[in-house]
Amino acid sequence: MTNVGIDAVDIWTGKLKLDLAETFAPEKGDDPEKYTKGLGLYESSFPDTYEDIVTMGANACKRLMKRKGLEPDDIGRIDVATESSFDNSKPISTYIAGCLEDVFDGDFHHANKGERKFACVAGTQAIDDAFNWIRAGRNRGRSAIVVATDTALYERGDPGEATQGAGAVAMLVSEDPDLVELSAEQGYGSADETDFLKPNQQFPSVDGKRSVQVYLARMREALVDYESVAGDIHPDDFAYAPFHTPFPGMVRRAALLAYRHITRDTEIEEELAADIGRQPREEAFDDYEAYQDALSDYTDALKGTDRYADWYDAAIEPTLDIARHVGNWYTGSVHVARVACLRRALNEGRDVSGKRLLLASYGSGAQAEIHHETVQDGWKAELEELNIDEQIAARYDLSFEEYEQVHAAHDHSQDRDFEEFTAPSDEFVFDGWGRMGERKYRYVE
Ligand code: CAA
Repeated sequence: MTNVGIDAVDIWTGKLKLDLAETFAPEKGDDPEKYTKGLGLYESSFPDTYEDIVTMGANACKRLMKRKGLEPDDIGRIDVATESSFDNSKPISTYIAGCLEDVFDGDFHHANKGERKFACVAGTQAIDDAFNWIRAGRNRGRSAIVVATDTALYERGDPGEATQGAGAVAMLVSEDPDLVELSAEQGYGSADETDFLKPNQQFPSVDGKRSVQVYLARMREALVDYESVAGDIHPDDFAYAPFHTPFPGMVRRAALLAYRHITRDTEIEEELAADIGRQPREEAFDDYEAYQDALSDYTDALKGTDRYADWYDAAIEPTLDIARHVGNWYTGSVHVARVACLRRALNEGRDVSGKRLLLASYGSGAQAEIHHETVQDGWKAELEELNIDEQIAARYDLSFEEYEQVHAAHDHSQDRDFEEFTAPSDEFVFDGWGRMGERKYRYVE
């Protein structure tokens, strides 16, 4: 069977930053620790006035193609996953391909292009589509580009405003990949939910507290479904477990429940039994509420054990390194988490070739998907090419008033022009509107 996976990745962050503890919290009258400790977020990325989902996606693709020495003819498919599209008909992938054709020789006329929608899980679904296209033998030796690009803005004053972010992740999906091989085994947890949606509106309608519960419920279903095809899993099976990260505090909650589930009936449960007892079993309770109370007490106790803390520090914490500084990138979020943990392995000199990652994606509305990936020998060389640290460090630090301007500049209902905060160089920029209402772009040397 052909080995298919992610061959290379590149990331483009919005070029502005909002410091949540120093700049946002004081204006909101909040304790900064609500952000840094509670939500687990320090800063969010924002697009400058000349950036949007197309420029960020095209800039990430350009970097990826240049450093892999690719030409348009090498690419048979371009799919974009986004929740921030500004066009209900023409896919963002066509805009991105148009940008790339300005700087590469040749064109993408024989590449299949599309746009994937299912909230934040769409990036992973687009990778699935590329995987299936290659496995079906329809790729004619070519690779697919998947771009997850979003400007995750909430209405001013919405509790979600604390979890905004903007950036793009471009991934090359190929045969015999250098970065990770994708598993054929997958698990799904999917249900018709109204926790977060955008019914023909730019900013989401969000029931924040409910969205957290829906995330946990669908993730649990997906984990059980994954185990039904891949077999029961054990914490030692995976080097890291990157989750969809709307904010790191969400992953903290999900990881604890996942750990409880995967240690059930293992030697870990037995070893912990002396300190915190065994996990409650439903059949031992007459009523469901009493069972839930016992489960909740056990979970609290589990959270306080060194065994859990060690696993969390090793397998989960490294996946949050980038999210803490850029916020939620919706479709790109789980793909940023993958890069974050591999980058941590690189920085710590840990060899993860041949090790497995457990990927847990999620989209509101709602669907979770879980699969595993095997890290390939070329991972180190790939990670060394990334410049995400430099990009994060170079962002312009917004004052609160400037943040208000940037939010307004990206609000489609407002027709207001603001000066840019940074000077573009060697990148695609938004260049105004065309005669049919299309957005136009140009490359700035
Ligand atoms: N010190 C330390 N911690 C503090 C604190 C302080 N001074 N003040 C508050 N906290 C903690 C709270 O205890 C809470 O932690 P726990 O959940 O672990 O108890 C955390 O900080 C957040 O505080 P609140 O719950 O009071 O925050 P809030 O009500 O203002 O908003 C939210 C939280 C509902 C998640 C909101 O940010 C939101 O609506 N976000 C958008 C929706 C979202 O991201 N949902 C996630 C699941 S859906 C999904 O994943 C899809 C997606 O990408 C959108």
